[in-house]
Amino acid sequence: MTHSGDPWTTSGMKDKNKQHEAPFRAFLTELVQKPSEHAKFMNMLSLLEHMGSRKIMVSQMNRHETMDLDTLQHLAEEARHAFFFKRQAERMAGHALDGWVDENTMHRKPAMMYFGRLDAGISKRVTGDDPSDLDNQAYPWVSLIIELRACWIYHIYHEVLDKSDVTLSLKSLLAEEDKHLAEMFEMVGENTAFLQELCDYETALFGKLWSQFQSSMDIAEAA
Ligand SMILES: [Fe+2]
Ligand SMILES: [Fe+2]
Repeated sequence: MTHSGDPWTTSGMKDKNKQHEAPFRAFLTELVQKPSEHAKFMNMLSLLEHMGSRKIMVSQMNRHETMDLDTLQHLAEEARHAFFFKRQAERMAGHALDGWVDENTMHRKPAMMYFGRLDAGISKRVTGDDPSDLDNQAYPWVSLIIELRACWIYHIYHEVLDKSDVTLSLKSLLAEEDKHLAEMFEMVGENTAFLQELCDYETALFGKLWSQFQSSMDIAEAA
């Protein structure tokens, strides 16, 4: 379905997250100067990308007769992002970072909780004609909301890296996330009120996750 507008203005996402932007940028600017912490942050991104790709796969299990190339490509790209961040994290750490455990993953539990609540909360809010296939109906909505956050984070992260002396490019990753965002918006974005409601829901969850980052920074500063 073709409709006017873009995902940012329609969802109001950037305005809703205005207060997080400067502190998040400041956090990243400090983070990229500390290779071992930076590696743990990237391993957390790897975990979230992995959870995202697994979520797409599970939600599409019943589409044997309708699976299309775009969905398979989306799944493959999210799996590759998980690989990309773990590979870069290992390069930064200078050693293998097997799995996602507290020792090698920044805020592992809050990150997993954020994703789990996001998925469950959106899936619950999505209603359709065929409640037996809710996972599939939730797919574009969960993805659209996740892509908004991924693009928000990665654009800031990209700008921070660009200004730093760290050799790491997010250019192709960003291009893929921007494409996913446009595709998901194309699928369901015409339902403006629902998009804004889900965006509010996600912003509150992100705020909780971000407060974990901020309290651990306060502890580090006080130490
Ligand atoms: Fe991704
Ligand atoms: Fe994506």
